[in-house]
Amino acid sequence: MAQTQEKESQTPNAPTTVDMKDIVSLCKRRGFVFPASEIYGGINGFWDYGPLGTELKNNIRDLWWKAMVVTPPIGPDGQPLQIVGVDSAIIQNPRCWEASGHIDGFNDPMLDCKETQKRYRADHVFVLIPRNGEGPSLAFDKDAEDDEVAQRLKKLARGRPKSDYNRTTLDKLPFEAFVNIIGPDTKTPGTLTKPRQFNMMISTGGLSVTGGEETKSYLRPETCAGIFLNFKNVVDSSRVKVPFGIAQIGKMFRNEVTPRNFIFRTREFEGMELEWFCHKDEAPMWFEFWFEQRKKWWQSVGLDMTRLHYLEVPDGDRAHYSQRTIDIEYRFPFSGEGYDELEGLAHRGNFDLTQHQAFSGTKLEYMDPVTNERYLPDVIEPSLGLTRALLTLLCDAYTVDPGRPSGMYMNFHPSVAPKKAAILPLTAKEDHVPLATKLYMDLREHYAVDLDIKQNIGKRYARQDEIGTPFCFTIDDQTRADQTVTVRHRNTMRQERIGMDHVAAYIAAEMKKIS
Ligand code: GAP
Repeated sequence: MAQTQEKESQTPNAPTTVDMKDIVSLCKRRGFVFPASEIYGGINGFWDYGPLGTELKNNIRDLWWKAMVVTPPIGPDGQPLQIVGVDSAIIQNPRCWEASGHIDGFNDPMLDCKETQKRYRADHVFVLIPRNGEGPSLAFDKDAEDDEVAQRLKKLARGRPKSDYNRTTLDKLPFEAFVNIIGPDTKTPGTLTKPRQFNMMISTGGLSVTGGEETKSYLRPETCAGIFLNFKNVVDSSRVKVPFGIAQIGKMFRNEVTPRNFIFRTREFEGMELEWFCHKDEAPMWFEFWFEQRKKWWQSVGLDMTRLHYLEVPDGDRAHYSQRTIDIEYRFPFSGEGYDELEGLAHRGNFDLTQHQAFSGTKLEYMDPVTNERYLPDVIEPSLGLTRALLTLLCDAYTVDPGRPSGMYMNFHPSVAPKKAAILPLTAKEDHVPLATKLYMDLREHYAVDLDIKQNIGKRYARQDEIGTPFCFTIDDQTRADQTVTVRHRNTMRQERIGMDHVAAYIAAEMKKIS
């Protein structure tokens, strides 16, 4: 063992007891995520990604793209699936959004408080209604914790227990009932306005989109529209045959009424979407297939699968285009005892191709070359927010560990970690640094690695723990004698010696391991 040996972690893989404010603070301190326009006081619902956040995001993006497009899964017939990628424009002809149903149907019920001018989403406000009909009802923000509920009940209802109340959400109540409701941030009943439908698309003004007069267009609220608009182009220009998929990764924009929970719900974000085109008779089979694939992918990037939950979205709660949806949900630090949506898997039927065919007047039917059947294929769509995936992996990785100087470490899987390894000369002594530099110069050809020379070794380990670097390779006096280095494992702080010329292969093997 090298002299840099530390004691074993007291709480390896400790369950997360993490608070969002610790994650937000780490993100700022170490350069994962910054508030957008911070020096101007910020802008609600927008965030910037710093040096490490950008690396982490690119890694997640590349792993998704590889799993979908570069090396797509093996299908039920033992052959690799056919999936190709596109990169379509963010602004499309506005008719596209009429056809997709977004101009009429992409709405959230929004209301205001006349007293505080605060704005809420009706389905995100829960209301406690006295079971015996006596006294006011109390409204709370969806994320209100038990203490806040108890405190307001104490102040506004003389500490009446929660069990004296029925719970519902504001959107389920008739407006007449609002006179008796105390809003989430007030003390008097009757200040909430009637909910009205609020379109979530962000529009652009002053663009001559169609070549004539300036018309209003929209920043895309989902990337899949660009896939449907190019369905015929892809079929005509490549050799794909149904069943096949088209994938796209890119920016999406939504005028969320209440952006919140750090980067969970933002107004600008990135999405990773696959539209899988298949015959309608096979759609239920492909739905199950993609559900299994998505779980496998989450496991491959190191997510704690015990924190996931799968919600079969009931009739009436699904998006206008969906015949069936399963939400893959995760227990975020702000989810309390529940879960929040991480990814959606939808069976969109042939809704989109039917609509775009009708609105554009262009035939989009596929002709099966074997049976000569002409039809509009059904679509199965796994759709994941890239930035939400990043938040999920940040929350999942944050591990409190009082037994080490940093008090925590980020348990990133090596494949997603922004830095795969750090090369640390034990001291700034002359013979440690050149050997470390040589190792670094070899490794940087293949991996994102850090060479860190300054400060004492404990402080350098602490920094790497905070940014989630899985391995630290330390060069010490023994390195010159026998060409070995120590590997320090981030999670356990255990150390072992390996040959310097095995380091690259060691990292490669660890990147592929599935926990
Ligand atoms: N094309 C289907 C579609 O857009 P969605 O459920 O509205 O479906 C897909 O969005 C995914 O995009 C969600 O599961 C979530 O991961 C992410 N997402 C949605 N709204 C978001 C927002 N405002 N901020 C960040 N991510 C968001």
